[in-house]
This record gives sequence, C-alpha cells and structure tokens, in this order.
Amino acid sequence: MEDIQHTRELLLKKLETLEDKHVILRAPELRELYGKIKDQPEDQRATFGQAVNALKQELEAQISDLSSQISDLKPIDVTAPIDVNSVIPELLSTENGTTHPISAEIQKISDIFYRMGFEISPSREIDDEYHMFTSLNFPEGHPARDDYDTFMTEEGLVAPAHTSTMQHRIIKAHKESLEAGEPIAVLAVDRVFRNEDLDARHEHTFHQAEGVYVGKGITVGNLVGTLKQFLTSYFGKDVETKITPFYFPFTEPSFEFSLSCPFCSEGEDCRVCSSERWIELLGCGMIHPNVLKMAGVDPEVYTGFAWGCGIERLIMMKHNIEDIRHFNSGKLAFLRQFK
Ligand code: DAH
Repeated sequence: MEDIQHTRELLLKKLETLEDKHVILRAPELRELYGKIKDQPEDQRATFGQAVNALKQELEAQISDLSSQISDLKPIDVTAPIDVNSVIPELLSTENGTTHPISAEIQKISDIFYRMGFEISPSREIDDEYHMFTSLNFPEGHPARDDYDTFMTEEGLVAPAHTSTMQHRIIKAHKESLEAGEPIAVLAVDRVFRNEDLDARHEHTFHQAEGVYVGKGITVGNLVGTLKQFLTSYFGKDVETKITPFYFPFTEPSFEFSLSCPFCSEGEDCRVCSSERWIELLGCGMIHPNVLKMAGVDPEVYTGFAWGCGIERLIMMKHNIEDIRHFNSGKLAFLRQFK
C-alpha cells in the first residue's frame, strides 16, 4: 500500500508538467503497480488491486478536469498587439513608431506624379528574361545586358534589376486607350535587385520609380519639362539640371539626368558629389521604336519618353544622407531622424 501512495504522489506531480496528459496512463510506474498485484499475499491481493484501479481512475478524473479547464481558456493570438485575455485590453503605444523614410518618400513622389496626371502602378519583384531584356530591345548576347546582372532562380526567373521591366506591360495594357486618344502616363515604383559590390552609393536591393509617357507628338522637351517640374516640386525649390547623352538599348536618344549638387558650398570641397558639382540622378530618353512596336504601338504615329530614377539616391540628396546602406540597416538612430 505504501508503494501505491508513493507512486500516486509521483504521478500526480508528473501530470502537472505533461503537455499530453494521457501519457500518464501509460507511465511505467503505473504498469509496475499492476504487475505487483499477483505478487501480493492471497488475502491482500483484492484490496491492492482495487487500490491500483482507484489510482488509475483518479488519474483519469484529473486528466478530464485539466482538459476542461484548458478548453475554457480563450485562444491566444500571439500576433495581437494586446493581451486579448486581459479585462481591459490596452493598445500598445505607437508613439515610438515611424514610417520608414523610403515608404514615406515613395508616397510623396507618387503624390507629385499623381497630381501631374500619372497613374501609379506597382512593379513586380520577380520577372522573366523577356521583360527584363528582349522586350526592351536588348539583343541576345549584347554586352549592355551585363550592366543588369541580377539574382536568378534555378528556373531562370529574374529578380528585376530595374523597373523598366514594366515598360512593355504598361504600353501594351494601355494601347487601346492610347488609340482612343488618351496618352499613356504611368509611374511604376518598386524594389529592384543587382549584383553589386556594396559601398556608400551601391546596394544590392534598392528602389526605382519608372515613368512612361506615350502620346502623339511627344518630344524631348516634354521629357525635360516633366522631370524638371517633378524635381522642383520634390525639392521645394528650383533645381539646376544637366542632361548628358548616354546609351540605353530601350531609348533613342538616351540621356543621363544630373542635378546640381545641393550640398556644395562655393569654393569648398564636397564629399557628396566629390566636388564634381553634379550628381547623376536618373536615366531617361525617348522610347525606342522597337519597344513601342513590340508592345503593339505604331512608332510612326506615337512617340513617348521614359525614365528610371533611383529612389534612395533622391532621398539621400534631399536629406543629406551620406551612405545608402543606412536605409536597410535597421538602426534606430537613423530611423528616428525621420519621425
Ligand atoms: N532602367 C535604367 C537603369 O536602371 C534607367 C532608365 C534609363 C530607365 C532610361 C528608363 C529609361 O525608363 O528610359 O539603369
């Protein structure tokens, strides 16, 4: 009988810690007690057997008690910002949170273009070789493809190296309204990826804003006017710009658009532009006839311009940020400055 008492205490204690309470009914200690029944003296065997059975029943009762207590509990949502079981749920204070500077500036950039009549569209973070190169007039094996070395999946899909991957889709999707007399004006903003050596100006993952405008009689003058209007609005003042001829397979002519360095002071060395006085901001040009043709638009009737602008670079110039790697660093000291 002492054996039974001892095992009872042991098993009740064990029961508290077990996740699956039923396991206790298969405990070796209990099995051992059953085994001992036959070893009891004849006259005590029945009492011993009853006591072991009583212990098993007690354990079963405990298990069903504990299980009903558990099912009375409200389910816990571990992702909830409050303790859903507390009597008066209190919301966590949000006063320390901030919108990430990239999200905040994308919103501002999109607002400006929206007010200028552009539709704002997302881009995509996985794409294919056709949209990345072929539809943009990169001949197969052309060395210009090397400038857009990026991450690939084993199936041959690419993490887009620029938002220009959206040009073909945008033009094709708006072809009918274009032919009905409405120019195409779309801004596609998203994350892009490159195989880069990282430094203060280069990240493997960053953001771009791609603008596409197509209509009748559109010229380089419209391109320059649109971008200047945007920059004046974004920086809140007139900015001096410089346009240099460049090469992109998907535009003809192509340009690099530079901004007069806003950090330069007369006669002083400038760390931001290496005293060149200009900072290259974006690539742009008149959409190549082949790109229009591949999207089903007649280049004899319609012309258009496009540009691709690095968002981080724009924010760096606006807020005097010296290293692009701050954006993804997660450093609170950096992020709190944008509160
Ligand atoms: N996609 C180019 C890049 O990332 C930038 C660019 C150049 C975009 C010319 C355009 C364009 O839309 O017309 O280097």
